[in-house]
Amino acid sequence: MSYGHFDDERREYIISRPDTPLPWINYLGCEAYFGIISNTGGGYSFYRDARLRRLTRYRYNNAPFDFGGRYIYLRDNANGQFWSPSWQPTRHEAKNYSCRHGMGYSIIGSTFNRIKAETLYFVPLGENLEIWQLSVTNLGRKPAKLSVFSSIEFCLWDAQDDATNFQRNFSTGQVEIEDGVIYHKTEYRERRDHFAYFACSEKLAGYDTQRDVFLGAYRSWDKPAVVERGRSFNSLAHGWAPIGSHHVKLNLKPGETRQVIFLLGYHENPKDQKFDPPTSQTVNKRTVKPVIAKYLKSTTVESAFESLRQYWDRLLRLYQAKTPDRHTDRMVNIWNAYQCMATFNMSRSASFYESGIGRGLGFRDSNQDLLGFVHMVPERARERVIDLAATQLETGGAYHQYQPLTKRGNDDIGGNFNDDPLWLILGVAAYLKETGDWSILDAPVPFDNKPKTEKALYEHLERSLQYTLDRLGPHGLPLIGRADWNDCLNLNCFSDTPGQSFQTTTNKDGKVAESVFIAGMFVLAARELADIAERRGLNSDAKDYRKAAERMHETVRKHGWDGEWFLRAYDDFGKKVGSKECEEGKIFIEPQGFCILAGIGMEDGLAKKALDSVNNVLATPHGIMLQQPAYSKYYLHLGEISSYPPGYKENAGIFCHNNPWVMIAEAMVGNGDRAFDYYLRINPSAREKMSQLHRCEPYVYAQMIAGKDAPTHGEAKNSWLTGTAAWNYFAITQFILGIRPTYSGLMVSPAIPSSWKGFTVSRKFQGVRYDITVKRIGKGNRARLVVDGRPVEGNVVPRPRGGVTQVAVEATLE
Ligand code: BGC
Ligand code: NOJ
Repeated sequence: MSYGHFDDERREYIISRPDTPLPWINYLGCEAYFGIISNTGGGYSFYRDARLRRLTRYRYNNAPFDFGGRYIYLRDNANGQFWSPSWQPTRHEAKNYSCRHGMGYSIIGSTFNRIKAETLYFVPLGENLEIWQLSVTNLGRKPAKLSVFSSIEFCLWDAQDDATNFQRNFSTGQVEIEDGVIYHKTEYRERRDHFAYFACSEKLAGYDTQRDVFLGAYRSWDKPAVVERGRSFNSLAHGWAPIGSHHVKLNLKPGETRQVIFLLGYHENPKDQKFDPPTSQTVNKRTVKPVIAKYLKSTTVESAFESLRQYWDRLLRLYQAKTPDRHTDRMVNIWNAYQCMATFNMSRSASFYESGIGRGLGFRDSNQDLLGFVHMVPERARERVIDLAATQLETGGAYHQYQPLTKRGNDDIGGNFNDDPLWLILGVAAYLKETGDWSILDAPVPFDNKPKTEKALYEHLERSLQYTLDRLGPHGLPLIGRADWNDCLNLNCFSDTPGQSFQTTTNKDGKVAESVFIAGMFVLAARELADIAERRGLNSDAKDYRKAAERMHETVRKHGWDGEWFLRAYDDFGKKVGSKECEEGKIFIEPQGFCILAGIGMEDGLAKKALDSVNNVLATPHGIMLQQPAYSKYYLHLGEISSYPPGYKENAGIFCHNNPWVMIAEAMVGNGDRAFDYYLRINPSAREKMSQLHRCEPYVYAQMIAGKDAPTHGEAKNSWLTGTAAWNYFAITQFILGIRPTYSGLMVSPAIPSSWKGFTVSRKFQGVRYDITVKRIGKGNRARLVVDGRPVEGNVVPRPRGGVTQVAVEATLE
């Protein structure tokens, strides 16, 4: 059963009933101002940093789930009935409910007592504000006398503090109201130079800014006192919980439609121009007023919305595929690319499953996000690469996370996740291949953000590699540190105390436990760096890196192969993890994927053997599980992985993030059938018809699908912010469809199912549009290329002459 359907033409998912199994959300904003919005209007907004600049309040882990939102109430003043067009918070039985999530906007509405109401929510490009454009239509035969009430609850900026420090917060809230605009200015008088505003396009019948007055004692948002009585109290918040609510009266003739625009925005003033007059404590509104006036006009709103549409049109046209499979087309052309933007912007910080409080941007996460994002907005990718590298330590190590607002490494979680530095090399390599912007390697970048420590980015990459070499264990494999990609395989933690963080507690000195996964990564990263060095003319560097890669390759073959698959690790006792010798957790997905990505086992058949093992032991109809057999008890020496009940998360869940590693590996060994089969198993659109089981949104990937050991096998969790987005995009576009940027040009090397007759891709690469038609004439996946009518050797399309902006490529697969 499904809860809606895709409209690919409009690039929307249309939800047709409000009671989805979980809130199905969307993101507003793609630059600095962001909002999360659920299909019933729930969610919150923030400027840049979900923790430090939270505009509106949200209550996590609530019932109903998505509470705290952008709520509008309509009231029929003839009979006192009131309802919310987005269903929440009143949950009236409305007709024709629909929520259309699109690219950077959502439109939610319904009809109640012949009044149709629909709100378009979006963030205009280049602005730090969100627009709610409400349209109300009287479908009845009699005139309608209506009241509209808007409502939001302000967050007192620091979302962590807001949710905990009540003894202070109940006394700090402050607002100002001027010309009907509500200004939220808590802490503005002292150390903040920013405020929020909530404005409305229509003449107000009243307003409220104090929550308890608006709701009334012992009432909640489903039945606010103000809405029930049909009149605002014009309350002025001081302390307690400041909110924003406008009251507008609308008289509609039969058939008439009226629009009301609400703006919620964030604004900063220069420190020395905070007040107006300067000696007062009144917010200086001189620079914000023109912005408000501009966006309260419906002509501006419409043209801003059109610009947003065009923006997405332009971004998505950079890679468009037409294949025999509509789920592939839909995800590649629309939703997967869109999700890559969200993960790039948020890393893992703010969703309905990440509170926006605990985590800033992850070092390894953000580097991986580049894989799916860099072709869309390369300038922002460049900035991100530099920001990430600037948090690197002089040892080559990395903070695991950093705060986007301060761009500083996060001391609470620290470093010593020994895979982290290597991701920088893979992120930079992806950036270089896509953009050809070699100048980035010479950009001076500090270590740990300390002035005067600047070194060329290239040196950061060298140190990343050296970091691994400086930390080899007894078998010559990389020491794992706190954890590698798998944050939950904590081989040095040994935690037996409740409440200790598995990520930050380290009870062993870490000189024994080794990771075969990092070894695979090292081989890949060292080869990438060698390629980079060669292209910079640093041949002796390149030679060294290749030698180091070779050595590690040999070590993996010697100490990292278990007979039928790659081993996962050695624990603190030097015992194998992910081996047939283990009682549980005999085989793990990560080293199978990553060792093969690095090219290990390609020549001697180990790769194929490992992939067959994955297929035999780890694959389920819902995707490939992380490991098997699941851990049935807590293993002190393995850490968090064994803390999850079997089938969930890292303990034998289907961790969607590393399924694409196996897809890529299958593509590399030429098995297009299997690669694509795995791709479809977790493709959200292909799972739409089982929404009741899957439960998460059918238009974006979730981090995890419960594995076969869980009672809810097939149920997804933690949608939106996951490396799954970038890796699936990378796997399908670059390895299965096989259109891959390389240093010497665009490669066409598909590994598609044998049943496909072909496909087309239109792809912009370094200023040139490539129109690629792939036709199958044989059963295999060997491509022969004809470029602009002329056959070329190999599978890389040579760069066209200067000035040429369009190239036609015909590839035949034999
Ligand atoms: C989760 C991991 C996550 C880690 C750090 C663990 O509880 O299972 O997926 O990476 O926390 O946030
Ligand atoms: C989620 C984290 O964000 C990511 O960095 C990690 O690799 C996976 N969990 C697996 O533990």
